[in-house]
Amino acid sequence: MQTNWVPRLGREVSVIGQGCWQLGADWADVEDDTAQDILNAAADAGVTFFDTADVYGDGRSERAVGRFIAERGDAAITVATKMGRRANPHVAGEYTLDNYRHWTDRSRENLGVDTLDLVQLHCPPSEVLDDPRTYDDLRTLQEEGRVARWGVSVETCDEALAALREPDLASIQIILNIFRRKPLEHVVTEAREAGVGIIARVPLASGLLSGKYDEHTTFGEGDHRNFNREGKAFDIGETFSGVPYEVGVRAARDVAALTPEGWTTAQLALAWIAQAGVATIIPGASRPDQARANAAAGSLEGLDEETLAALARIYHDQIREHVHTKW
Ligand SMILES: NC(=O)c1ccc[n+]([C@@H]2O[C@H](COP(=O)([O-])OP(=O)(O)OC[C@H]3O[C@@H](n4cnc5c(N)ncnc54)[C@H](OP(=O)(O)O)[C@@H]3O)[C@@H](O)[C@H]2O)c1
Repeated sequence: MQTNWVPRLGREVSVIGQGCWQLGADWADVEDDTAQDILNAAADAGVTFFDTADVYGDGRSERAVGRFIAERGDAAITVATKMGRRANPHVAGEYTLDNYRHWTDRSRENLGVDTLDLVQLHCPPSEVLDDPRTYDDLRTLQEEGRVARWGVSVETCDEALAALREPDLASIQIILNIFRRKPLEHVVTEAREAGVGIIARVPLASGLLSGKYDEHTTFGEGDHRNFNREGKAFDIGETFSGVPYEVGVRAARDVAALTPEGWTTAQLALAWIAQAGVATIIPGASRPDQARANAAAGSLEGLDEETLAALARIYHDQIREHVHTKW
């Protein structure tokens, strides 16, 4: 497994991490024991970075990760959580120091730790990211020992660039995958130069880039890939990366045709992001075998120029018009 040192995080992380949204079981039907099996399968395969949030299953995902780190007792593991989405209504005025204290205390309890390794603002309204007070408050949490480092999870490249102006920012979480190339224009390079870790989320475009779905695939009623296709519950970009489903299925077929011998298409998708120079990539996994296969992508060779050019053409010809100007 390739690992990367992230200067602002002060930690070494595996290039393939583990996304833990689905462990909250608020959309994927993941039982508690399966959650532990997924986490252990990932860690056994060399994964050291785990991403969760206080709202995933209203704390269930954090508690699963808490049980896992307690039983595992591995100091090399980094757990990132997120805060902000417990605000109701979700408005800028709720992003206050008092709420930060309350939210991080709950996450510390759920995870069973005194100090959170990394807390990220969970896609807050843009004005929160433009307000210098936000970062002063996050520094206060750090001084109080509630968090070791802080970062942001954002929807757009402009939001990422706004947060990058902060000298103490440790990480930026953003959607980056074969169907979301815009962060490659500025965000990834500028973050690297600053020593800020890029955490690439939704790397498989919600599973589309595994190449396994077709026009007839259906998703459960409680699955965001069913109910959020038009962005009814949260930002439409979080579901299939904002690519209309049928367009994504067709383009994913062309991606699948480029899969190197002995790889899976999901591994091709992850290897492509690893080559872009991010700190870590956090695929979700609904089964332990997926976690293992994803982790294995962290030791694959880089893709050749011909494949990279063909993937760029797929994006430009089929995907760009649907996503590039939006995020
Ligand atoms: N706002 C935010 O900050 C935010 C938003 C979204 C996500 N995230 C983070 O990003 C993580 C990843 O996002 P995500 O789960 O939505 O998207 P994703 O990683 O692009 O897709 C995950 C889905 O892909 C399929 N899959 C995974 N590994 C596979 C493999 N090896 N082979 C075939 N299929 C595979 C599974 O679908 P099936 O269940 O159909 O098999 C899985 O549920 C989340 O867990 C969370 O930590 C953060």
